[in-house]
Amino acid sequence: MTSAEVRRRFLAFFEKRGHAIIPSAPLVPENDPTVLFNTAGMQPLVPYLMGRPHPQGDRLADVQKCVRTGDIDDIGDNRHLTFFEMLGNWSLGSYFKEEAIKWSYELLTSKTEGFGLDPKRLYVTVFAGDENAPRDEEAKKAWVSAGVPENRIYFKDASANWWPAVKGKDAWTGPTGPCSEMFYDITKSGLGDMTPAEYDKADDEGRVIEIWNDVFMEFEKKDGKIVSKLAKRNVDTGAGLERLATVLQKKTNVFETDVFLPIIDLIRKNSKNYDERSARIVADHLRTATFLISDGVVPSNKDQGYVLRRILRRAVFKMGHLMLPADIGLEIVEKYVNAYQTHYPNLNGETVKTVLRKEEVRFKATLDQGLKELKKTFPSLTSFGDAGPEKKIKLDGRFFLDLFTTYGFPFELAIEIIQSERVQTPFVLSSEKIGELKTQFDEEFKKHQDLSRAGAEAKFKGGLGDTSEMSLKYHTATHLLHKALHEVLGDHVSQKGSNITPERLRFDFTHGAKMTDEEKKRVEDIVNAKIKAALPVHRVELPKDEALKTGAYHFFGDKYGDVVSVYYIGDSIDSAYSKEFCGGPHVENTSALGSFKIQKEEAVSAGVRRIKAVLS
Ligand code: ALA
Repeated sequence: MTSAEVRRRFLAFFEKRGHAIIPSAPLVPENDPTVLFNTAGMQPLVPYLMGRPHPQGDRLADVQKCVRTGDIDDIGDNRHLTFFEMLGNWSLGSYFKEEAIKWSYELLTSKTEGFGLDPKRLYVTVFAGDENAPRDEEAKKAWVSAGVPENRIYFKDASANWWPAVKGKDAWTGPTGPCSEMFYDITKSGLGDMTPAEYDKADDEGRVIEIWNDVFMEFEKKDGKIVSKLAKRNVDTGAGLERLATVLQKKTNVFETDVFLPIIDLIRKNSKNYDERSARIVADHLRTATFLISDGVVPSNKDQGYVLRRILRRAVFKMGHLMLPADIGLEIVEKYVNAYQTHYPNLNGETVKTVLRKEEVRFKATLDQGLKELKKTFPSLTSFGDAGPEKKIKLDGRFFLDLFTTYGFPFELAIEIIQSERVQTPFVLSSEKIGELKTQFDEEFKKHQDLSRAGAEAKFKGGLGDTSEMSLKYHTATHLLHKALHEVLGDHVSQKGSNITPERLRFDFTHGAKMTDEEKKRVEDIVNAKIKAALPVHRVELPKDEALKTGAYHFFGDKYGDVVSVYYIGDSIDSAYSKEFCGGPHVENTSALGSFKIQKEEAVSAGVRRIKAVLS
C-alpha cells in the first residue's frame, strides 16, 4: 500500500463516519509565538479542543504537516524524521472512548476499508491510573469488545500513557488526558502472547513499534499543572503516516518505503562516496526544507529561519561528503514536489529550488575556508602528539561564533564535523560538554546580535534592520486588509491564517466566492487611504471581557487568558478603524507602509480564499 493510499484510506474511513476533512495547517503556527512549528496534529486545533466551536462541526479528520527538530541528531537511524505527516481524527465533545477505539481497531484491521493489518500482531496500552485520573478500565473494555484479547492490553503509567498538552516556551499548557497506544509486531516469526515484562522488552528492542495514539482529552493544563476539567470530552488521535507506511510495506526502515526509496536510490546511483547515514540525512532534510520553504520560511539567523538554515546547510554539507554531482539537490526537491503536489498544492518547487541554490552558493563559498579553519584547529591528532586539540585552542562560545559569523557554520554542524568526518582524527565531546558549549555559543550569539543591531541602526538605515522592519509593516498592513475585507465583502470574513515574509503578506480568510476585480480594487483603495491618513497604531492591555466588548477581531478562543493585548489603528480605541487581539509588534504609524497592492487572490480550500499582497 503506497503512502498516498494510506492517507486516502484514513480520510475516507472517517469521512464515511461523519467527519469533516480539514486541510493541514501550515507548519509555522500562525498565531502562537511560543512554539516554532506544529509538532502534532492537535496543535492547530487547541482552541477548539478547549471549547470553541469549530465551523466544520464536532467530528474532524486531517493529515497535519509536522516538524520536530528535537531528534535531529538521530536522523539516519531507521525511523527518526524531522518532517512527518500525522493522520488524526477528532471528536469535539461528540463521541468518546468506545467509538474512537472501535474505529481505530476497524481501520487498522479491515481489509476492505482499512489497512488490513494482522490482528494477531496488534498490542495496545492503556492508562494505569494515578492521582489525576482512574485506571482506564473503560478503554480496556472498549478494546476487548473491539476484538483485542485481554492479555494483549497493558496498563502503563503517565510517563507512557498521558498526553502532556502542548509544550510552549515555558510550560505545558492546554488540553490534556490519558491515552491509549497501538503497537504492531514487526518481527518475521511473530511474537504471540507476551507477559507485561516480555512486552516491555519487545518494545525496548523495537520489535513492536507504535503506530497510533488515541488521546482522551478531559482536562486542562496551565503552567504544567492540571487545573480543571474541560467542558466537553474530546478525542485527539495521531498516527505517523511514514510509520504506518513502513509497517504496511513490510519494511523495518522508513527510508525503504515509497516515500524515500526513489530519493535514496538516486543518491546511491550518483554518489562517489556513498554511506547510508549521510544519504538518509540528505533525503530527510531536503524533504523538510521543501515543506518549510513552501510554507514561507526563509533561511535566517533566528527561530524558524535558523532551523531551516541549519537543515539546508547540513544537507549541502552531506551532499558534498557523498560527492554528488552539482544540482542533484534540485532534482531531489523536484521529485518531492511531484510526489506530494496532489495532496499539498501549495508546494512551490521553483521557490524551494531558488532558496536552496542561494543557500548552497552562500554556504559553499565559505565552506572550504571554514573547513580549512576547522582542520587547522583540529588537524590529525598525530601532528599534535598526545596533547590533544583542546590544549592548542580554546573551545568556547567565541570560537563557534566566529565560525558561524565568518564561515556560516551552524554550531551543530561544526560540532558534527569536529566529531567525525573531514577532520581526520575525530575526537569525542561528551553531551554535557556540547551542552555547555551551546550555552556559551547562544550567549555570544545574543551579544553579537545586540551589537550588530545597534550598529546597523546607527550606520545604515534600511540595512540589517530591514528584514524585521518589513515584517512590522506587513503585520500592520494585514490588520488593515482584514478590516477592509469586512467592509467590502461582509462580516462573514474571518481569518483562517496569516503569514508574513520580508517580501509579502499572505492572508487566508473565509469567503465563498472568488473576489471580483472591482472588489479587489476597493480593498486596495481602502487600505491605501488608511495609509495616507497616517493613522497611529496603539496597543492596550485589557481584561478579556472588556476587550471583547470593543468588537476587536479575535482568533484565539480562550488561549490568551484573562488579560489580552489589543492593537488598534486610529486615535482612540472607540473611533479606531481596526481593532484586533494581537501580540504585535507593529509599526507606529500607517504612513510607514508605503503603497499596498494585492498580487494574487485564490482558493486554498472550499470556502477559504487567500490573498497575497505587497508593499512598495
Ligand atoms: N496528540 C497525540 C499525538 O500526537 C495524538 O501522539
